[in-house]
Amino acid sequence: MKRKPRSFKPAVESIVVLISGRGSNLHSILKNCPCRVAAVISNRADAEGLQVAAAHHIPTAVVSHKDYPDRASFDAVLAETIDSYRPELVVLAGFMRILTPEFVDHYRGRMINIHPSLLPAYAGLNTHARAIADGVKIHGCTVHYVTSDLDHGPIIIQAAVPVLKHDTPDTLAARVLREEHRIYPQAIRWICKHHVELNAAGKVHFKRLEQPGPALIFPSLD
Ligand code: GRF
Repeated sequence: MKRKPRSFKPAVESIVVLISGRGSNLHSILKNCPCRVAAVISNRADAEGLQVAAAHHIPTAVVSHKDYPDRASFDAVLAETIDSYRPELVVLAGFMRILTPEFVDHYRGRMINIHPSLLPAYAGLNTHARAIADGVKIHGCTVHYVTSDLDHGPIIIQAAVPVLKHDTPDTLAARVLREEHRIYPQAIRWICKHHVELNAAGKVHFKRLEQPGPALIFPSLD
């Protein structure tokens, strides 16, 4: 007798994505994630990513930071807006606002970010230019849980790329971005399937076996 396939019930059924700009990560998430994107919220009405969301018939909202006198009041309205969609996970995808510790605490273990460097190296802005200036041979991107320590939350997944001799910040950014589009949907899929979580000690806990990939050595060995 054939065994009945087990019904798949994701731990996370809906997510809200926060953006400020282009929305290429949003696009890769929409193409590759099993969970429902309940809404896309931007702090900028002119964020191109809002059109990406609309093209996928995803509800959008704009909460402009310019309409609020301080971070606390902006964050309070942002949280209210997010919570009105009742997501289980908040995904920051190029959301360019520093968040208050109260906001971050409210979403502890339920909010992730993608950063264009191999954290803890190059937290903050201009990561590609700084990596080139330092002459590093390997650079990359990181998906991590958000804590109030800016760009330093517990790491879920990283991808590394070579830094080539003639790279400019733009060529390097493009190489890193291709990997962002692979690892962000993967991290969300793991969370959706309950394969990874932030435990009570604030550490990333994997409930699946690690599959080691090949080492990246650059320049490569003879
Ligand atoms: C990405 O490089 C991401 O790592 C950083 O902001 C950029 C957003 O790009 N946090 P996009 O809007 O997803 O195209």
